[in-house]
Amino acid sequence: MLSGDVGMTLVALLDRKIDTIFELGPGNFVKTETLLRRWDQARRHPRPADAQAKRDIVYVAVDINRESLQKTIPELHKKFNNITCVGWWGTFDQALERLKSTLTSKACVWSFGSSLSNSPESDAIWSIKSWTDVCDLLIIGQDATVDKAEVHKPYHMANFKAFIDTGRRKADEINGQEEIFASATEKICDGIGKDSEIEAFESFKYREREFEAIVAEAGCAVMRTFSASGAGSRIYVIQPREAANYKS
Ligand SMILES: C[S@@+](CC[C@H](N)C(=O)[O-])C[C@H]1O[C@@H](n2cnc3c(N)ncnc32)[C@H](O)[C@@H]1O
Repeated sequence: MLSGDVGMTLVALLDRKIDTIFELGPGNFVKTETLLRRWDQARRHPRPADAQAKRDIVYVAVDINRESLQKTIPELHKKFNNITCVGWWGTFDQALERLKSTLTSKACVWSFGSSLSNSPESDAIWSIKSWTDVCDLLIIGQDATVDKAEVHKPYHMANFKAFIDTGRRKADEINGQEEIFASATEKICDGIGKDSEIEAFESFKYREREFEAIVAEAGCAVMRTFSASGAGSRIYVIQPREAANYKS
């Protein structure tokens, strides 16, 4: 969750000169809705009598999850007075290509939950550079927890086990076979059997200093960093280094 102070500061920062937001991978839209609601309220405009009346801000959600966009975007659009909500179904790379040739307004790209920078350093540098080429402000959430025990803890909690079990049952359903992946006793293949752990994917965490170095390599600077006490996540507000006119 985004704390009230972080939300208000971000909205104040955005309100000064941004009129279009692109969000990369909104997921369940919880953070999105918190921020957009604050921004909508900050404007304090009366609800336009005409439903087609022009709104000041455009919010574009980019995600490969088509169902989630189709369900949530119309709901969000109805909730706000001053924000036009739009969904772009596709990959981040496709959105980037599209923006290179079409973008003209004052734009901010935001991405939370490490969606954009959970990658090796060279990829993270490339992403930050590419996105700051097409926007005026980049806001990135990135996990800074580097303590291995802390990082591994969520992967051993009951709800994560339930998530994996659902996936194994689904795999059996798709294969049309009973209890191959979902079996708790059978050996699936050499090396994988009951209670064995496998590395499914790599996850990249960066300490603040490390992330600032990545941002600098991309030719940008971190203007603000937000963190909640005791939480590993950080929110970085990033600009190209030469854009010094956007002091917070
Ligand atoms: C970790 S989840 C959501 C995180 C969310 N921003 C948050 O902080 O709670 C990642 C989201 O990004 C989307 N996504 C991941 N990679 C993508 C890609 N390359 N192109 C488009 N959408 C992507 C997924 O469908 C999902 O909605």
